[in-house]
Amino acid sequence: MFKVIIVLFLLVSSSYAAETETETETETKVEFEVDLALGEEINELCAGCHGEFGEGGKQGEYPRLAGLPAGYIAQQIQLFKDEKRKNMPIRPYTNERELPVEDVPSFSAYLAQIKLLTKIPKFDDNATAYEKLLIAKKVFNIPKVEGDLELGEELYVDDCQLCHGKRGWGKEDSDTPPLAGQYTEYMLRQIKDFVNGARWHEYSEELFSEMEADELQAIMAYLSIMDD
Ligand code: HEC
Ligand code: HEC
Repeated sequence: MFKVIIVLFLLVSSSYAAETETETETETKVEFEVDLALGEEINELCAGCHGEFGEGGKQGEYPRLAGLPAGYIAQQIQLFKDEKRKNMPIRPYTNERELPVEDVPSFSAYLAQIKLLTKIPKFDDNATAYEKLLIAKKVFNIPKVEGDLELGEELYVDDCQLCHGKRGWGKEDSDTPPLAGQYTEYMLRQIKDFVNGARWHEYSEELFSEMEADELQAIMAYLSIMDD
């Protein structure tokens, strides 16, 4: 029933060291079938850390996954598998035995289509207590961060918007994640990793290395109200 015919194109990269010691990347586009029911089942494994609806937790120790582009989720899993993005807690879950590559499109698509709410909606009179509870569990809002909102907007528009989209909402079907609706603490940790090289980000030197603490704070303040 849930089997969807859409196929997700996944870039499967394999790198090998050539004789000259330079790494050569080969990328092959592979088609996989998306099975949302399987994705939901696999999500039970992720839910222990990332929450039942991919809402993340522990103030950003575990990032939000709900609504991230499927291609981005799949790509990050591949980076964890290849140990190009290093993270101890998630590593054992991404090996081939736990998470074979052919299952990646299914849980990526499952997580991508979860829509969290930022406010409790008006309930229809016929809604049961259980239905209301399920909806209330999907309400998620990033706490407001202190900082100079005007400066934050200016910096965001100048330096981040081109890739991360208007108001931080990202771009569907892209490899670039949204930043609005993501935990502030998690993003600050990622930016530290970009600066120290533990994680790759385009132009990280120009974008982050020389950014003053109050400027970064201002961007986080701006993003923290974009999901309201
Ligand atoms: C033991 C806890 C744990 C489990 C289980 C776990 N993760 Fe994670 N995951 C993490 C942590 C911690 C991070 C953040 C890593 C960092 O700070 O760089 C993360 C990061 C991610 C990211 C990157 C998000 C982003 O915005 O870049 C994705 C995608 C992800 N996990 C997917 C999954 C999926 C899918 C599963 C289930 C198959 C899963 N994780 C299971 C702990 C876990
Ligand atoms: C040239 C495009 C580009 C620009 C400009 C850019 N980003 Fe990014 N950003 C990306 C991409 C692509 C990723 C995903 C990187 C990866 O593949 O791991 C990313 C990832 C991130 C992440 C990690 C999100 C997550 O869920 O793990 C943060 C935080 C971030 N960017 C912040 C910023 C901020 C703040 C700015 C502006 C100062 C900015 N970026 C400018 C392309 C860009």
